[in-house]
Amino acid sequence: MGLNAGIISTGHSYPSGVLTNADLEKIVDTSDEWITSRTGIKQRRKAGSDEYTSQFAVKAARQALERAQIDASEVNLIVCATTSPDQILPSTGCLIQAELGANNAAAYDLFAACSGFLYGLTTVESMIRTGQIKYALVIGAEVLTKYVDYTDRSTCVIFGDGAGAALLAPVAADKGILATKIVSDGRFAEQLYSPGGGTRMGTTHETIDSGQHFFKMKGNELFKIAVRSMTSISQEILEKANYTTDDIKLFIPHQANQRITDAVAQKLGVNESVVYSNIEFHGNTSSASIPIALDECIQQGKIVEGDLILMASFGGGATWGATLVRF
Ligand code: UT7
Repeated sequence: MGLNAGIISTGHSYPSGVLTNADLEKIVDTSDEWITSRTGIKQRRKAGSDEYTSQFAVKAARQALERAQIDASEVNLIVCATTSPDQILPSTGCLIQAELGANNAAAYDLFAACSGFLYGLTTVESMIRTGQIKYALVIGAEVLTKYVDYTDRSTCVIFGDGAGAALLAPVAADKGILATKIVSDGRFAEQLYSPGGGTRMGTTHETIDSGQHFFKMKGNELFKIAVRSMTSISQEILEKANYTTDDIKLFIPHQANQRITDAVAQKLGVNESVVYSNIEFHGNTSSASIPIALDECIQQGKIVEGDLILMASFGGGATWGATLVRF
């Protein structure tokens, strides 16, 4: 019998700075009532001006390695899913590698917005299953608040900062990642994008003055696509692996909006009691949202050996994915 890729350990980290809805009321035309009822968010973590993405990624990765008692030198691959890298060059993955002392690893960044963590699991899974590598760190890390326009109430109330890491290794074939799928549709590119700063619209004083480097989002349109795609891809991989929602111990969706989570859970027929949500405390941390939630669940004892966990994501691109894991 062959081997599967399993998540053998996790960790997470976030800034100490907290931005509450009351804080936002003072800087933009919004209210705690609107944010709470439309998104479920009460607060989000916000990095200080001297904090950056790889710092949180390194803390999360160290936690995962220490919990598994694996030395950084044993790691073969580091995949950092991020939409808010420390800098364009080198990759945040390489900066994490150097900081960890993971000198035997290849490292790179993966750009798939909020779906980055599941994209990372999906790409690494086959490399472990086919024996190309043994230990891989898949990290979702973001300091999105530095890409947010705090005069734009439709985006600034949503995003938060943090990082989550998972250490993957070969496990028995009846455990680990049982099914996983990722999908993209670039026709939705302008539903969530940051137009300035790349080769298409290089950075100039004008692009900065007009805020072209900030995230712009058509949230209302994305909402419907998110519900539809997360539901269908979850159904697809459950069916592929011959399971139903009754078999799931926990459903961990990307924490984009509590109303999206509720709608997907309802369409999937998943009982409210098995749906994990932390959006109230973290907001939307993009690629970090699922690994942070996963680690919280493990540390709180919500996941024990043998449990079947479904994760589903949706993000800019548009990108979406779902992964079914037996712990
Ligand atoms: O992370 C993955 C990718 N992102 C997503 O999946 C995001 C999905 N979308 C969402 O979460 C929601 O669409 C939002 C939370 C972004 C917005 O909620 P909504 O219920 O879709 O609001 P809306 O954009 O339809 O706007 C409704 C009203 C508008 O006012 P009018 O035109 O009806 O007078 C907005 O101007 O709410 C207004 N509004 C706000 N009011 C107070 C928008 N943002 C705010 C705000 N505070 N922060």
